[in-house]
Amino acid sequence: MLYKFYQQHIFPHLLNQVMQTPSLMDLRRELLLPIEGEVLEIGFGTGLNLPFYQNVDVVYALEPNLEIFQLAETRIRDSAILVEHLAGKAEQLDFADNRLEHVVSTWTLCSVQQIEQCLAEIYRVLKPGGCLHLVEHVLHPENLYIQRLQHLLTPLQKRLADGCHLNRDLALLLQQAGFEFQEKYEIDTAGIPKIGQRMLLARVRKPA
Ligand SMILES: C[S@@+](CC[C@H](N)C(=O)[O-])C[C@H]1O[C@@H](n2cnc3c(N)ncnc32)[C@H](O)[C@@H]1O
Repeated sequence: MLYKFYQQHIFPHLLNQVMQTPSLMDLRRELLLPIEGEVLEIGFGTGLNLPFYQNVDVVYALEPNLEIFQLAETRIRDSAILVEHLAGKAEQLDFADNRLEHVVSTWTLCSVQQIEQCLAEIYRVLKPGGCLHLVEHVLHPENLYIQRLQHLLTPLQKRLADGCHLNRDLALLLQQAGFEFQEKYEIDTAGIPKIGQRMLLARVRKPA
């Protein structure tokens, strides 16, 4: 009961604050400014990406957690972009095959329960040549000490942060899902604990 209270009434506000860490906002800007037209955002959260879309007309905002989505209300109201809320999960997308040019994930691929299924769905709904734009914290590629901590602490992190895995090797998973990397780099962000500090920013395409 206490845990449910935490999940419903405390975690959404913590998320809203932590996700506004300045170094994360800088990464949002870099990732989102070049995107145009229509976008599916998986794990829309509290709507923090909205101000960074400069040439986007429609955002399909997939967010299964209504307590979190409620905190996006003001940002949606203040935005000129048409935002359509979808309450489903990224493991089963309600779009036809080859339908979308752009999908965005900012710190959501760590949280989906079935990551392979989710990536297969994103691949399915993207047009050939379409792009998944992502920024995510990842398994540290070199530092074995941090890797060990990431594996050790993931069960606790999943409980505290709504399913978040600290130890996903997303570059490998994206490659295995059939995506081609168009842009890819990793960076340690300021203001985030070391176990979640290594970020992957990437644009990956479904082959044309
Ligand atoms: C760490 S938050 C990131 C939120 C937002 N993308 C941002 O950048 O601030 C992860 C989000 O993914 C959502 N989420 C979790 N599992 C999901 C799933 N299976 N499909 C879609 N969204 C999911 C959560 O409800 C949460 O809003």
